[in-house]
Amino acid sequence: HGTSKINQRGHLEIGGVDTTELAERFGTPLYIMDEALVRQRCREYVEAFRASGLKFQVAYASKAFCVMAMCRLVEEEGLSLDVVSDGELYTALQAGFPPERIHFHGNNKTPQEIGMAIDAKIGCFVVDNFVEMNMLHAIADEKRQKVKVLLRITPGVEAHTHEYISTGQTDSKFGFDLENGAAFEAVKQATALPQLELLGVHSHIGSQIFETAGFRMAVDKVTEFVIKVRDELDVVFPVVNLGGGFGIRYVEGDTPLPVSEYVKAITDAVISNFSRAGYPLPEIWTEPGRSIVGEAGTTLYTVGTHKDIPGVRKYVSVDGGMTDNPRPALYEAVYEAMLANRGKEANEELVSIAGKCCESGDMLIWDVQLPKVRTGDLLAVASTGAYNYAMASNYNRIRRPAVVFVQNGQADVVVKRESFEDIAGNDVVPERMKQVS
Ligand code: LLP
Repeated sequence: HGTSKINQRGHLEIGGVDTTELAERFGTPLYIMDEALVRQRCREYVEAFRASGLKFQVAYASKAFCVMAMCRLVEEEGLSLDVVSDGELYTALQAGFPPERIHFHGNNKTPQEIGMAIDAKIGCFVVDNFVEMNMLHAIADEKRQKVKVLLRITPGVEAHTHEYISTGQTDSKFGFDLENGAAFEAVKQATALPQLELLGVHSHIGSQIFETAGFRMAVDKVTEFVIKVRDELDVVFPVVNLGGGFGIRYVEGDTPLPVSEYVKAITDAVISNFSRAGYPLPEIWTEPGRSIVGEAGTTLYTVGTHKDIPGVRKYVSVDGGMTDNPRPALYEAVYEAMLANRGKEANEELVSIAGKCCESGDMLIWDVQLPKVRTGDLLAVASTGAYNYAMASNYNRIRRPAVVFVQNGQADVVVKRESFEDIAGNDVVPERMKQVS
């Protein structure tokens, strides 16, 4: 997919760059981002919304992969940005991202984060609960500033990877519950707080969703709610945010829909529901993360040791693992891989790819067919663009890899590989321990 292909030398090439050359130049493990594919996904969202005729904002959910170059790319593509912490907000602001296009999420924004975001004059707070609402109002009041807000509601639609289940009472740490009246009460209170400008409601049903049924159901719940609010409180919302969660392909057999179909399902449902109710068509906001960057990412590793347990399993170890990709250990996520330096060779053996961390759970892939693997081979794992670098750690004091953007035969480092200084630079040895005996 994207610009990936096997070149004449039999090597995996991405963005017109031979990955064996990337390994030589930048070392491994290495995160490689196919910039053209990221941009293509951004444009697919924008085009699909344009086609609906609705007003819209596509806010890239930066939690999936948040670095300054990515913020620049998102800005260039005309998207908005969703942040969930002061760190993501800081990254966006440092990258010169227009604050009015930043939306701030999270179920426990601290007073410091709220103050920082108000000072930066961000575009919108997605208010999660009553404590936050009052805190936000108090801080805004103190700063003599008005803030735009959406209220996050728990729509009672819980999306799991493939299915969705409708729950009467949603047990979630996020948002104001629809069923028990909390959401309605939140609208009442928000409209009474003079520093808050209530734009509308927000709903997010889950992640890595392959179907449109859950989204249509969420639109139904949201419509029902905003109509009740109009009829009983005489409040009409100009904005409805339907969150993110659109699925991507990790392995063969994953069947995500094209971006245009997710968007069409949402916009069609909005247009038909709101028109039927005689409700002015709202501006639709969405927050895709994974589907913008996921498939564009590839992680390149060098094969080190391997061991065969005859009749049981062959372990092939690479120079990274759960530190750069915690998803298999955390979610039992599955990935596909190939040998980047031997792309034309036929698969010969079934192996398991192990990371280098000191625990048995550090397995990247349990079963993958590869050519007969040798020490020094380069292993490329696909679809690692979302929630990989973003969730990387320094477990075992392993340094986080570099990230490169590739496009048009050019590779640009967007995150440098961590140094030993990065690893131990914040350590402090108390004076009383400095005497070496
Ligand atoms: N909006 C809200 C309010 C969210 O909570 C999320 C994801 C998104 C948008 C973006 O969802 P996406 O389009 O990326 O599915 N670490 C997990 C994924 C956690 C998703 C959290 N929220 C993983 O690696 O699968």
